[in-house]
Amino acid sequence: MSRVFVSQEIVDEALEEFEGTGITVDLRRDHTPLPAAELRAAASTYDGLICLLTDRIDAEFLAACPRLRVVANVAVGYDNIDVPAATRAGVAVTNTPGVLTDATADLAFALLLATARRIPEGDAFLRAGRYTHWRVNQEQMGVDVHGATLGLFGLGQIGRAVARRARGFDMTVLYHDVQRLPAEDERELGVTYAEFDELLARSDFVSVHAPLLDSTRHRFDAAAFAAMKPTAMLINTARGPIVDEAALAAALREGMIAGAGLDVFEREPEVDALLLELRERVVLLPHLGSATGTTRREMCRMAARSVRDVLTGKRPENLVNTELADRLVAGP
Ligand code: DGY
Repeated sequence: MSRVFVSQEIVDEALEEFEGTGITVDLRRDHTPLPAAELRAAASTYDGLICLLTDRIDAEFLAACPRLRVVANVAVGYDNIDVPAATRAGVAVTNTPGVLTDATADLAFALLLATARRIPEGDAFLRAGRYTHWRVNQEQMGVDVHGATLGLFGLGQIGRAVARRARGFDMTVLYHDVQRLPAEDERELGVTYAEFDELLARSDFVSVHAPLLDSTRHRFDAAAFAAMKPTAMLINTARGPIVDEAALAAALREGMIAGAGLDVFEREPEVDALLLELRERVVLLPHLGSATGTTRREMCRMAARSVRDVLTGKRPENLVNTELADRLVAGP
């Protein structure tokens, strides 16, 4: 009989996916991540694991869990998992793409608007009782979003969803990605390919939608900020370490760029102290990208389905280490 461990609280409804399968599920009813040694000990006898992006699944963890056949991450990003080590150990890794695309794109756009139009500053100003009269030179003077140039770093599902939203704001959309779209797709989406330097030099807003890889870590460093317009703003809803946070704080203080809207941080949940001090045109959120009730429920259900599928001999819909696909399907 297969057993599944859920490392932290999820949406309970997701457990319905296991009904009628005979699979036993042990849900840890706690929303704080376990320290590595405790997670290893807790998961060591299970066949399946549902985990979150705050759980580190590395070679040491995998060695401590010899029965494990599947790790389902409740997130589209899986940089918390050593996928090559999982593949070597014959453990399937799954993520939750698709179901969070629109919620994350909505949040990226909300962050862009909030930063450009200084919405949190206006809210704080009013609540402090400082709104005494309307004036032409309003304290929270912002910049236009409509008609501006948006540079997308990464054009996967979420980047494309942001591009579609930008069309409604009459924005010019540039993108940079390792893979260039066919010309017809570019035309249909209304995006133009740019080399990284050109994207930085031309964009009024640069929004990050790439995965965290060795090649993207600290891609936004002091040199990148120096190449951006002094009026430009950086939006990051992808992964914190893609941006060198100390270099970003320095760039903002020195006026190399004008603003930043960040939903993710380099050492989450820690935020660079210098960044925290900056309040004008800097909006900081606690990793809310996929945080709508519907989306989080669908992410949890998808993770549960993936574990169920692997443990019942089926290929899951969202297998990351596809090299294992053939091994997962039960024989006749
Ligand atoms: C992800 O899915 O990778 C996000 O960071 C959380 O929704």
